[in-house]
Amino acid sequence: MPTIKPVSTIIGMQWGDEGKGKLVDILTEKFDIIARATGGANAGHTIYRNGKKVIFHLIPSGMMHEGKICVIGNGVVVHIPTMMEEIDELKKLGINLENRFFISDRAHVVLEYHKTIDGLQEEMKGGKSVGTTKRGIGPAYADKIQRIGIRFGELQNFEEFEKRYMANLEMHKRMYGNFEHDEKKELEYLKSVLTNILPLIKNTEEYLHNELKQGKNILIEGANGTMLDIDHGTYPFVTSSNASISGISSGTGIPGSLITNVIGILKAYTTRVGSGPFPTELKDETGNYLREKGGEYGSTTGRPRRCGWFDTFVAKWTGMINGITEINLTKLDVMTGLEKVKICIGYRLNGKELSSMPFTAEDLEKVEPIYIEMDGWKEDISQAKKMEDLPENAKKYIKKLEELVEIPIKYIGTGVGAEDMIYC
Ligand code: GDP
Ligand code: IMO
Ligand code: MG
Repeated sequence: MPTIKPVSTIIGMQWGDEGKGKLVDILTEKFDIIARATGGANAGHTIYRNGKKVIFHLIPSGMMHEGKICVIGNGVVVHIPTMMEEIDELKKLGINLENRFFISDRAHVVLEYHKTIDGLQEEMKGGKSVGTTKRGIGPAYADKIQRIGIRFGELQNFEEFEKRYMANLEMHKRMYGNFEHDEKKELEYLKSVLTNILPLIKNTEEYLHNELKQGKNILIEGANGTMLDIDHGTYPFVTSSNASISGISSGTGIPGSLITNVIGILKAYTTRVGSGPFPTELKDETGNYLREKGGEYGSTTGRPRRCGWFDTFVAKWTGMINGITEINLTKLDVMTGLEKVKICIGYRLNGKELSSMPFTAEDLEKVEPIYIEMDGWKEDISQAKKMEDLPENAKKYIKKLEELVEIPIKYIGTGVGAEDMIYC
């Protein structure tokens, strides 16, 4: 059963889209506050409520649960129109956000020109483009690191905000050439939504610590995936923040020493959207089978996800980097019907078996995965509620993964709904 600690976090152990949103939705009832720490609207976290699909990009996936507080932490980069759209959609679903949704005054604002620059950079990279979501994530984080970013707190003095905005835009135009941009339209829009946004802005670091002192529990929702982490991922084919445990701490102000429950989300196979190395990728019928059966199309961009076999080398690496304490294996049901299933247990490069994750994307592109093969299962597992309900071969597959990754698998996903979960 779930381990609940005062500060728990959910982190993707592959290249994103592992099914983080679903577990956040399930665990929300056990927590008082749900917080996002990193990334921006590049994330797409799906939950199902009464058969209806809801995708969260910026707002924490716990928002559907009445009475729970949701926080966008200082490490997130926020595109205001996307957030306003999400707020409107939630209101249409009858969700009341008043006094239960806050944004850090230190969170950075993603502006329209960041999105334009994201596109320009991708064009400039030509054949080496990252395949970003074009949500302006890289350019917004670049501004933050270059110490020219604009933060939410600055909206509290709109005149100064406008000056900073114009100076920043001017600087970018000097760097990227005189790209088209309608600053008047964007500033007018931002001014028009100020009354909605200002009440949401808070010193969330202090707020979270005060709530913890009063005995409240916090669940931090990771975004993207550890293989997309700017430091530990498949650089340069990564996102622009620390999608791993370090971002959880820096993006909320909650020190690592307090984050004692680190739940890793692992898909029973592997997917990736965008460019970059993917050793176990299947460019064949099995890959198509997983894509179609698993609905593997991006929640943010709709792009088809690349699909492949489970990769132990990746899982061990990300398990180590994050200090994962327990695993939620997701989408096991998608593998039903495969005659044989393979698990990558290592990599060979130039004929030699590797003992650690290669440093360059070029090397990772060249590695030859070492596989073990097991028998698949044909029985429908969508109604399975406990381990014993699973077919023998599915049980053997899970046991093998647990043995290889060396971290306990505590939950197993068998479908899209919150009820489709086996608790081990
Ligand atoms: P996230 O970004 O990690 O939150 O994942 P996404 O929402 O982008 O993608 C995961 C997809 O898989 C979503 O469509 C989920 O509804 C779906 N999903 C999650 N867990 C399971 C599962 O156990 N079985 C099946 N069939 N689908 C799942
Ligand atoms: P969730 O939270 C899958 C990928 C993009 C691209 C690279 C860089 O839903 O798991 P960016 O726009 O961040 O500069 O793109 O990272 N990427 C994701 N892939 N799921 C995500 O988020 C992702 N966030 C970024 O496809 O390859
Ligand atoms: Mg996603």
